[in-house]
Amino acid sequence: MRAAKLIEPGMRVGLGTGSTVIYFVEALIERCRGGLEIQAVASSEKTLEMARAGGIPLLKTFDVLDITVDGADEIDPMKRMIKGGGGALLREKILAFASSHMVVIVDESKCVDKLGTAKLPLEVLPFGHLATASSIPYKGEFRKKGSELFITDNGNYIYDLHFAQPLDDPESVDCQLRSIPGVLETGFFFELANELIVGVS
Ligand code: A5P
Repeated sequence: MRAAKLIEPGMRVGLGTGSTVIYFVEALIERCRGGLEIQAVASSEKTLEMARAGGIPLLKTFDVLDITVDGADEIDPMKRMIKGGGGALLREKILAFASSHMVVIVDESKCVDKLGTAKLPLEVLPFGHLATASSIPYKGEFRKKGSELFITDNGNYIYDLHFAQPLDDPESVDCQLRSIPGVLETGFFFELANELIVGVS
């Protein structure tokens, strides 16, 4: 696993979330068992559980990180992304922003010319969530888990947007969404990815 080979002794590592990142975390666990000394922070309770069970030393808090490795739902040629398919977008963005280097690992199906075919997740505060949703000028729905609303690791809801067509100017859509009170974070990740690895071998 190429991404795991980028991790060097002493690094503070952000661990993303999702089915692709699992391969990275597995490879990192192997490297730690082989003597690599690092400290890590996980972007979700799911990844945290896996890292802890595998014996990766975990930081309780952090200021700066050396590297974060994460997946994406879509990535365009400018390395702009849509993330949050697993509902971990807020913590993922905090880790990516705190990191000197962000490596994104995806399979080919995630590489797109324009963002916006995948659903765009928004993390929404439960207080007044229906009012928040009614202010959003795009089609969408609150994510569910069974018959209940999906709750993020931060205790919030996810509102998934569907765009009518791929976006020419995702930055302006991001600004528009961020101006709505109750929208805590969007799944747009701009100017955060430094390195893209396509394929997970
Ligand atoms: C988790 O909230 C997401 O941002 C994931 O990184 C993204 O959905 C990619 O996940 P997969 O690797 O499972 O496709």
